[in-house]
Parts: sequence; structure tokens; C-alpha cells
Amino acid sequence: MSHITPNAPVLDNFWMPFTANRQFKAAPRLLAGAEGMYYTDVDGNKVMDGTAGLWCCNAGHGRRKIADAVQRQLMSLDFAPTFQMGHPIVFDFAAKLASMAPGGPDAKLDRIFFTGSGSESIDTALKIAIAYQRAIGQGTRTRVIGREKGYHGVGFGGISVGGLVNNRRMFPQIPADHMRHTLDVERNAFTKGMPEQGADLADDLERLVALHGAETIAAVVVEPMSGSAGVILPPKGYLERLRAIATKHGILLIFDEVITGFGRLGTPFATDFFGVVPDLITTAKGITNGSLPMGAVFAGRHVYDGMMTGPENAIELFHGYTYSGHPVACAAGLATMEIYEEEGLLTRAAEIAPEWEAALHSLKGLPNVVDIRNLGLVGAIELAPRAGAPGARAYDVFVDCFNKGLLIRVTGDIIALSPPLIIERAEIATLVSILGDALKRAA
Ligand SMILES: Cc1ncc(COP(=O)(O)O)c(C=O)c1O
Repeated sequence: MSHITPNAPVLDNFWMPFTANRQFKAAPRLLAGAEGMYYTDVDGNKVMDGTAGLWCCNAGHGRRKIADAVQRQLMSLDFAPTFQMGHPIVFDFAAKLASMAPGGPDAKLDRIFFTGSGSESIDTALKIAIAYQRAIGQGTRTRVIGREKGYHGVGFGGISVGGLVNNRRMFPQIPADHMRHTLDVERNAFTKGMPEQGADLADDLERLVALHGAETIAAVVVEPMSGSAGVILPPKGYLERLRAIATKHGILLIFDEVITGFGRLGTPFATDFFGVVPDLITTAKGITNGSLPMGAVFAGRHVYDGMMTGPENAIELFHGYTYSGHPVACAAGLATMEIYEEEGLLTRAAEIAPEWEAALHSLKGLPNVVDIRNLGLVGAIELAPRAGAPGARAYDVFVDCFNKGLLIRVTGDIIALSPPLIIERAEIATLVSILGDALKRAA
């Protein structure tokens, strides 16, 4: 039985997700509290949150407004179904999200389908796309296109369009194919913001149309800025080109904004940041500031209207979750949106991005740093792997940073950073200083 310190619980029973269980349980890192920019571990040490939890606590931790709203909702209506039934707060929250939805007056994505997570949002969006194509007489369009290195959660749809081999290799998949990813360290290393090279990679969609036939393809899904695979930015002009090719071939474009939604790039959505409007947007995480599980798919009106055909007493989409529009999650979400608005958090990343960029790029030249990437309040430091031990160097930096009071995230040999949007300038300096020292020690 693993039982490490007097403050630690028995560790055997929780089968941890995306974790080396045996390694972790031999030397656990346990967080016990959180407030603002900081976690506290079980031994009382403060740890700066350099990752907004898992890219989700955009307004920082321990927000009383959310806690109060959740408590009130639990005591007034803890649960009610949304199948052939409704409750006011789910319509209120959908209306609130719709008012923030990107797309401009003619192409607003203001029809909201609620889910319980990012993975559910992606599988929902793929199913909506396939069902929509069928509803408009394009029933042969059942294939979905994703991208290498893409991460779209862990549902069967999400891993099929996803492009991370370890998430895919053991599991069967739905019919899918993939464009190449846009990471090109050789040509674009140390670019500040979006890289110049690579818009032509969007032409991969043309190649896949030529290979499979447009009439077999329902949708193409990309993260407008890819986070989990190690922060991969779209080259300038890439998303515009992808939009044009998708439109030309009647393929729906889905932006997975599970990470970028709710202010990460300095605009409410990445769709606003890049000025390219998809047909569907998937969200989760920041929708409740990470406080309760929830996700939402924002659908364009044309998609929703395309499905609202047939007899009025017929269910238009045979899809939904027990927790689609859970009242308590809606209460958390409404309180979260209030905080974002009151504190200007959906645009704060834009204000602080220049300092963030300068601070991150000051790490250039440290041992083994082969690339630094940034956009909005997101950053990545890519390290040269240790010979014969991929990922080991970044993992050492991760453990070292944690022991020095900073939580970062690593994917392979890439360090990813995405602090809460409330981070102060002095805290950026502290973060970069702890990280820089760890990088030197890992040399
Ligand atoms: C772009 C993207 N899509 C989907 C997901 C899956 O979300 P969840 O873990 O809530 O299922 C994630 C999670 O990190 C993500 O980054």
C-alpha cells in the first residue's frame, strides 16, 4: 500500500488518467488548496499555477462568486432533465453564451448544445456535422478530417480525428483522415507569435478531397491554436485558406476551442482573434472556470436550421447527455461569465501579451532550448531530448519547477505554459525566473 507522508491519503485505488501511476504513486505531488494564482500542496507549500489547472481556471482559483452561485443553485434546483423538459437557467446560460458568440451578425454561432466535457463537445460536433450533412441531402458525407498532432479529447470521435499516436494506437476509430500538422521548428524556430511559413499546409485538405472525394467528407476539425501537443500555432493565412477550401467543397469547418475559448488569446474566442469563422465551435474548460465539468458546442444558425426539418413532433438529433445543461454547471458558468466581464479577462491576455512574449523569449540561449513559441497568454519552450530518453529532460524540469513552487505542463520535451488570465507582471517574472533556473539545472 502506497502511503507516503502523514498528510497523504492511500494512493492505490485511484486509477489516475494520463499518468504513469506507479511512478507517481512512488513520489506523489498532491495539491490540497488553491486561491488566485496559487495552489497549496498537502505540506503547505505554495505553488504558482503556470497552467491554469489544465488550461481551465482562467479567472484563477477559489472564486467566491462561482461558489456562491453553485451553492444557491444546488439548494434551489440541483438537477432537472433536459430531454423533452427544461429549466430556466439552461436557457439563460445558452442566451448568455449566444450573446458572446463569434461570427458577426450574419454568421453568428449562437445555437448552443451543452455537454459535460471537451471530449463530449468534440464527439457532439462531429455527430452534428454528419447528421447535418444527411439532413441536407448529403448522406454520403460520413468521413471526418483532422490533423496530425491534433488533440480532441478521448472519445472515439475525438481520437479518430486526433493525431497523437499514443491516444490512437490501441483503439478502433471512425472513418477519418489527417492533414499534416503545422509545426516547423526548422523554418520557424523562435518566431514571436504566428509563423510566416506554412499557409500552404492547408492545401492538404484539397489533397484529401482528391483522394477520398468531397462527397464522403462531412467536416474538418482543427484546434485554431493547438495546445496539448505542445503549442502549435497556425501559420499566417493558414486558417483563411482552410476555411476557403472547406467552403468550396461543402465541408463543415469545426474549430476546437476547448483551450482557446474564453480569453486565452486575448479575445473571447480564437475565432475572433484569427477573424476566420467556422461552422461549429467546441468549448469546455474555461466555460465554468474549471469549477464544474461542462462543455458547449456553438453551432452556426445554418447548421441548426438545417436540422430543424421534418415533422415538428420528431426529435431532430438523437444525441444528448444526462448532464447536458446541468443546472449547477449552468450557474457556475453564468457566474464565470460575470467575472470575466467585470474583470475584463476575455481581453486581458491581449494587454499582457507583449510582456509575456518578451519574458518567455528571454529564455532563448539557455541550454537545450531549441524553440520558444507564444501567442496570447500561451507559451511553449521546446527542449532538445536527452539521447535515448525522449521526454526525460522536460520531465526533470517539471519536477524541479514543482519543487521550487511552479506548476508547468510537459508534453514530450515541450514545456507548455498557460497561466490564469489574472497573472500579474511580477508573477510572469517569477515564473520565468524559476523556469530558467530549472532549465539551467537540467543541462
Ligand atoms: C483542444 C482540446 N479538445 C478537447 C479536449 C478534451 O477535453 P476534456 O479533457 O474536457 O474531455 C482538450 C483537453 O485538453 C483539448 O485541449
